[in-house]
Amino acid sequence: MPVALVTGGSRGFGRALSIDLAMDGWALVIDGRDRSALQQTADHLIGLGAHTVAIAGDVADPAHRSALIESAGDLGSLDLLVNNASTIGPSPLPRIEDYPLDALRQVYEVNVLAPLALLQAALPQLRRSQGTVVSLSSDAATEAYEGWSGYGSSKAALDQLHRVLAGEEPLLRVYQFDPGDMRTEMHQAAFPGEDISDRPEPETAVVPLRALLDSGAASGRYRVDEWVLQS
Ligand SMILES: NC(=O)c1ccc[n+]([C@@H]2O[C@H](COP(=O)([O-])OP(=O)(O)OC[C@H]3O[C@@H](n4cnc5c(N)ncnc54)[C@H](OP(=O)(O)O)[C@@H]3O)[C@@H](O)[C@H]2O)c1
Repeated sequence: MPVALVTGGSRGFGRALSIDLAMDGWALVIDGRDRSALQQTADHLIGLGAHTVAIAGDVADPAHRSALIESAGDLGSLDLLVNNASTIGPSPLPRIEDYPLDALRQVYEVNVLAPLALLQAALPQLRRSQGTVVSLSSDAATEAYEGWSGYGSSKAALDQLHRVLAGEEPLLRVYQFDPGDMRTEMHQAAFPGEDISDRPEPETAVVPLRALLDSGAASGRYRVDEWVLQS
């Protein structure tokens, strides 16, 4: 039974990915701060027959991260770490001249330092399983969209950490995956008051990511549309 740790598995893309993995017999460790949303997803995964551990908490909290790693260890192995939980930061997105530094620190805490710390703690288990690390990237990591400085620079930093990791840990597969626009709470917060009903559901991006995971492709950064073309 392969084991995946999916941060932010309670909602949005993390939830959709966890459900897809559960249907293929994976055991899951998931988290999220909102206990009731997390419990709802956990109940769904258990209903699919998946061994599921759901731990409510904030990825920026070291004790919470330790609990996630310990739970994965208790399941016997960690085969897949998905650094998915993220924050968009203040909404509406502030211009650089107005960006509150405390808010930027929080974006970096959640989007960069927390996934890095989780990865550091998970490495012994991932090395044992010769496992896979996925970090969720964004086009805002490579394109200079006005207003997207905080979130975009955090995702650029996350990408670069994982790129370096791929070189340092050649036995692991390390993917940065840009899922494209998805109709989720984060996307709505990025476009407050706008109708985002034309954006695809997060399930749409799960299919290419699963294909990437199954392919054994080399470590690297993959965009959802590139992978559809390649697969
Ligand atoms: N949506 C898009 O268009 C889009 C585009 C490109 C990339 N992405 C990336 O895709 C990933 C998933 O995004 P999404 O749109 O699915 O987001 P979402 O709908 O807002 O879901 C985020 C998930 O992460 C959890 N989370 C957020 N902050 C957390 C924290 N500090 N500690 C623990 N859990 C936390 C949320 O639960 P709680 O709030 O209850 O904690 C929720 O389960 C993110 O990395 C995002 O940057 C999204």
